[in-house]
Amino acid sequence: MRKSVLLVTLVLMTMIWVTLLVADDEMVVPLGDITIEPINDEPKRSEVVFPHGVHFSYSCQECHHKWEGKEPIQSCSTSECHDLGSAPKTEDGKPVKDPELRIRYFKKAYHDMCIGCHKDIKKINKAMEASKASLGEKLLPTGPTGCNECHPKDE
Ligand code: HEC
Ligand code: HEC
Ligand code: HEC
Repeated sequence: MRKSVLLVTLVLMTMIWVTLLVADDEMVVPLGDITIEPINDEPKRSEVVFPHGVHFSYSCQECHHKWEGKEPIQSCSTSECHDLGSAPKTEDGKPVKDPELRIRYFKKAYHDMCIGCHKDIKKINKAMEASKASLGEKLLPTGPTGCNECHPKDE
């Protein structure tokens, strides 16, 4: 009798401990739209609504390229990632050439990635349309590349 009480207590304690461990680095994955806010002081364009779940046919690391699969995924504008609100300049005001510093500008990071991928797919579709062999083949779905499609003008 005493043994089984001890066992139940042990099992309960282990369960609580495991729950705490999981809760400690729990990650909530947004399945629907994510509103990506600009991080500069005076944004010129409207914020971008990003349909996260529409992109889950890709690997998570395609975008969360620093993620190693265990730790919670961090925001793109985490310190020292894409955390600059304007394009970095040298002391005499010229644009910086170092690609690692340039990509810290949040706008460059998002545009290169989002527009880059959508454009690449459009190129493949153009090549498919141009090639007679692909007649009747379905074109690949892709995303927007025009400014107002991602940054809708508020009326
Ligand atoms: C096409 C690019 C892309 C893909 C693929 C993608 N994500 Fe994301 N995800 C984003 C962007 C952009 C954000 C918004 C980040 C921000 O606001 O800084 C985001 C946000 C997140 C967040 C919230 C992070 C936070 O700031 O709290 C989590 C968690 C996440 N994604 C998990 C995943 C998982 C898991 C997968 C794979 C199933 C995945 N994502 C696939 C682009 C992507
Ligand atoms: C690696 C490629 C890739 C990246 C990176 C990517 N997209 Fe896409 N995006 C796609 C594809 C493919 C589709 C079409 C999906 C479909 O219709 O099934 C799409 C669709 C979309 C759509 C239209 C969704 C709809 O329902 O019509 C929006 C808006 C969009 N993407 C925004 C973004 C934004 C904003 C980012 C950057 C944060 C981004 N995408 C990054 C590949 C990408
Ligand atoms: C595929 C979606 C997409 C397209 C197309 C796109 N952008 Fe962006 N843009 C973003 C995202 C995501 C951000 C970063 C988050 C934000 O600013 O809301 C951004 C940020 C910006 C910023 C910095 C924030 C601000 O408002 O000052 C400017 C300026 C901008 N975009 C202008 C443009 C212009 C001009 C075009 C057309 C040449 C364009 N964008 C096309 C997704 C897009």
